[in-house]
Amino acid sequence: MPELFGGDIAGQWEADSKAISEVFEYADKGGAVCPGDRRALWYLIRRLEPRLALEIGTHIGGSTLHIAMAMKTSRPAPPPRLVTVDFIDVNDAATRQWERYDSPASPKDMLARLGCADVVDFVVARSLDYLAGRDGEFDFVFLDGSHQAHIVYQEIPMALKALRPGGFLLMHDYFPNLKPVWDDGKVISGPYRAIERLQREGNGIAALPLGILPWPTKLGSNTTSLALLTRL
Ligand SMILES: C[S@@+](CC[C@H](N)C(=O)[O-])C[C@H]1O[C@@H](n2cnc3c(N)ncnc32)[C@H](O)[C@@H]1O
Repeated sequence: MPELFGGDIAGQWEADSKAISEVFEYADKGGAVCPGDRRALWYLIRRLEPRLALEIGTHIGGSTLHIAMAMKTSRPAPPPRLVTVDFIDVNDAATRQWERYDSPASPKDMLARLGCADVVDFVVARSLDYLAGRDGEFDFVFLDGSHQAHIVYQEIPMALKALRPGGFLLMHDYFPNLKPVWDDGKVISGPYRAIERLQREGNGIAALPLGILPWPTKLGSNTTSLALLTRL
């Protein structure tokens, strides 16, 4: 059993993270997953080696860049595919929304500079519209779009259905028992409330928080709000 967060692929992480940091600083940026979580995403993808992955919530592309690089490093050819969905056109040259979050370029431009243009498809759509009718397609889904409980509550069963058997669903901003994960005392309640409601209604699912990572995440801790979701 290889070590999940290290071992023989640590050197590849060093190379990929150096390349990524030349286009996207390894620092906290407004609304993107924190640097430690980007690193965890890279390792999970590198270990799980999905051929087809889905991300809900592109924003400035912090997670997208790391998922795409890990996919490309895992499977150089034929290129794996990452579909990333946001209801905002994150690459729109007229609004240049990335500048509002102090990001240097659009996600699409940064991916091109990393040689990952052929890995990622951008979709401008509401998550529920995109997920409707998807069935058994994806090897990996990352949910980081809406954080409203009533939306996440609808997304989760659809995302599970969109996975092929044995696929993985990862969520961001899961705060177990609605307790703060960091010392700032903040709680994002939507993802936990959505899962709690699904469980109360008899859906056989469980969240497996990744908990503590082997590297710093936020506010001087190694704690992450990433959680895998599994059918029981
Ligand atoms: C927290 S940000 C995602 C951060 C991103 N993963 C990163 O690391 O840069 C959430 C994104 O989800 C998008 N979003 C929110 N609700 C959505 C929905 N219902 N459907 C699609 N996108 C949505 C927002 O526009 C926003 O860009």
